[in-house]
Amino acid sequence: MATYAMSGGATGIGAAIRKTLQTAGHKVVVVDLKDADICADLSDYAGRQRAVDGIRQRCPEGLDGFIPCAGVGPSVRPPSLITRINYFAATTMTDGLLDLLEKRGGRIVMIASNSAPMIEHNDYIDLLLAGDEEAACELADSRDTHSAYAGSKHGICCWLRRQSGDLARRGLRINAVAPGIVQTPLSDKVLADPELGQVMKDFGDSVPLGKVGQPEQIASVVEFLLGPGADYMTGSIVFVDGGHDAMLRPDTF
Ligand SMILES: NC(=O)c1ccc[n+]([C@@H]2O[C@H](COP(=O)([O-])OP(=O)(O)OC[C@H]3O[C@@H](n4cnc5c(N)ncnc54)[C@H](O)[C@@H]3O)[C@@H](O)[C@H]2O)c1
Repeated sequence: MATYAMSGGATGIGAAIRKTLQTAGHKVVVVDLKDADICADLSDYAGRQRAVDGIRQRCPEGLDGFIPCAGVGPSVRPPSLITRINYFAATTMTDGLLDLLEKRGGRIVMIASNSAPMIEHNDYIDLLLAGDEEAACELADSRDTHSAYAGSKHGICCWLRRQSGDLARRGLRINAVAPGIVQTPLSDKVLADPELGQVMKDFGDSVPLGKVGQPEQIASVVEFLLGPGADYMTGSIVFVDGGHDAMLRPDTF
């Protein structure tokens, strides 16, 4: 039995990951706003600290893996809330749990998005990678929510790739899945958004495999990345998107 901690396990992709891991007999400690082992709002420092402290208390044996899955979509406003939850909560919680992960050769699986490569590397992403939360949030609020969302996921990918070498030397693997459009409460909210709904619908209609994804189809890849079958993988971004990324940028990989 492995011990895993994760955020965002109450609904959608996170709930499917939790169920998959629990069904396989593993211990899973979940942080979320509600319906979780540890209830915490990860948009601010105090909530992240409560989450990390709660995981430490429940997992003194160490962690075999951590999955920072909590996130909000591009329909959420102000844009800085996306920055705080999708990028800063995920990265600071991961940092705060590295010693627990080191105890058991832990694996980290981040949740990116196939929107990450839809945005060029820019000044917002530089602020994310510099760890300057307030400046990144100020810049996010001067732009649109798509830039904040795709940028937060682009930032996650750069962040994990930049440190995968150092983590490897500490015995840790770090990878990400990059889902395409998946049917969850998050994508339902984007579909209902007056500004973004039609674009999202057209995007869903253009998936090469002909349908939007289901949370279980992401969870099975997360389970693989956490397991021994992926023990030579680190620093990888795995697209699980029905072929959308390959369709949009076939010659860039
Ligand atoms: N659904 C998609 O199409 C899609 C595509 C690509 C990536 N993703 C990513 O997958 C992850 C899961 O999203 P989902 O689609 O399952 O959405 P979801 O809304 O079903 O789940 C997100 C979870 O995060 C939690 N959460 C949100 N804000 C929080 C906060 N401030 N503090 C603590 N927990 C918080 C929610 O309560 C919820 O349980 C997100 O990181 C999202 O960006 C989703």
